[in-house]
Amino acid sequence: MESTRSRLTQRLAEAGQSHLLQFWDELTPEQQAEMTSDLEAMDFQEINRFFRSAMEVSGSSKQEKMDARMEPVPREVLGSVTRDRDCLKDWEEEGLRCISQSRVAVLLLAGGQGTRLGVSYPKGMYDVGLPSHKTLFQIQAERILRLQQLAEQRHGAKCFIPWYIMTSGRTMESTKEFFLRHSYFGLGKDNVIFFQQGMLPAMDYNGKIILESKAKLAMAPDGNGGLYRALGTQGIVEDMEQRGIGFIHVYCVDNILVKVADPAFVGFCVQKGGDCGAKVVEKTNPTEAVGVVCKVNGYYQVVEYSEISLATAEERSADGRLMFNAGNVANHFFTLPFLKDIVQTFEPQLQHHVAQKKIPYVDIQGRLIKPDKPNGIKMEKFVFDIFQFSKTFVVYEVLREDEFSPLKNADSQDGKDTPTTTKHALMSLHHRWVLNAGGHFIDENGTRVPAIPRDGSAGSGTADVNQNLKDGTDLPIKCEISPLVSYGGEGLEGLVRGQEFRPTLVIDKSGAHELVKNGV
Ligand code: UTP
Repeated sequence: MESTRSRLTQRLAEAGQSHLLQFWDELTPEQQAEMTSDLEAMDFQEINRFFRSAMEVSGSSKQEKMDARMEPVPREVLGSVTRDRDCLKDWEEEGLRCISQSRVAVLLLAGGQGTRLGVSYPKGMYDVGLPSHKTLFQIQAERILRLQQLAEQRHGAKCFIPWYIMTSGRTMESTKEFFLRHSYFGLGKDNVIFFQQGMLPAMDYNGKIILESKAKLAMAPDGNGGLYRALGTQGIVEDMEQRGIGFIHVYCVDNILVKVADPAFVGFCVQKGGDCGAKVVEKTNPTEAVGVVCKVNGYYQVVEYSEISLATAEERSADGRLMFNAGNVANHFFTLPFLKDIVQTFEPQLQHHVAQKKIPYVDIQGRLIKPDKPNGIKMEKFVFDIFQFSKTFVVYEVLREDEFSPLKNADSQDGKDTPTTTKHALMSLHHRWVLNAGGHFIDENGTRVPAIPRDGSAGSGTADVNQNLKDGTDLPIKCEISPLVSYGGEGLEGLVRGQEFRPTLVIDKSGAHELVKNGV
């Protein structure tokens, strides 16, 4: 014990982190043992190196705007659900074929802390208040089940879409326990694979690791780009190879509309020969704080709104759309060889980004201080940082109101990306599915509800779902369709055509039978 301690003291002194042991003598033997094992597992020289290069990169990127070096996504690498309607069926066919051969996996990024939402459990376990009270995890699981079924029906062979779920030290146990409790939502234990991303300490601006209590370092997950290191250290790439996976769809846990393993997206990327693909939504408002996919010095990357000037953000092309309009929604396609190259070769070249944060800490007297302005940084890699290594990058544009509504914040008046806006986005999508399948809604007096609401926003063009729902003038019809019944609006005609429904309408599935519950 004594020699372990002196070795540790020396390592900390060499790394300039001796302050971490300043309360050592006040700790209980259990706390000392726990702290020793935490510290033993850390590579302080590496952490210091990460800090220095992250600070350097963040300092230089602040000074330099990207504008002059940016080019928009060229049309030849772009597929669009609105502009290439003729190709959609073909892409979907291709994707379903790959799925039916069990060559497609999905990879969920669920290691975030969800600080803005403010719940103590993983975000995927959140119930946004749908009539069914399904959680985000359940919705995603049922979409996978339905897609397997669609691919099987089309090609007559049993298939599986393995679901890789990245968690972090803070979310692993509760996530696993939740899936076990729900019997993996029918997916089978072997096809749901959990793995854990790394954690890094929060540092002050001088590179000193912050103590969140006398006995504990302030630790945080290393960003969703921590994925690539974790895929290597946890043997996930090998697992994918053993299963014969060729293509991987990566997405974030918080998007309630996410089309998990979207066959059209997968098929588009495969047909185009893309090694890496990004799904995007059209950015229509120049000042919307969304990163855009574009080329910088000839390499693809995501450029944040803060990195360009207003003039560039407002620039328009001949068709009237914003020049830089490929809004990133953290929804990606990778071939396995590309992912393998990233993990085995390029991962160490990825730089950490600096996020300035208010980090609770203990002061020199051991008192807990909750700062009211940022006092340090967290270091994070981003999932899209690897676009630069792609040789055949492709971009797939979808409609925001059909595919993107993330849960970021707790409910509040006029809130954006809240439980209420995500719930409304899903119900409004399902409402449109029913209308498209020939169903109608009636109000409490038996009068038909017009298909287009009075402000004309539901289902129109590329309107911002959040914007439409914020003012409450566009409360959606209460309607929810189980993903077990329909993945993307298909298969509803037989259930709804020519019929009138009184909200709340719930279309669910029990065993092999669909249940239509109306006026509930
Ligand atoms: P966000 O950056 O929105 O973070 O993550 P968050 O954890 O959900 O919420 P805040 O910022 O703490 O309020 C986008 C996606 O990336 C995942 C999240 O789980 C989410 O799916 N993520 C984020 C990780 O998997 N690991 C991380 O280290 C960070």
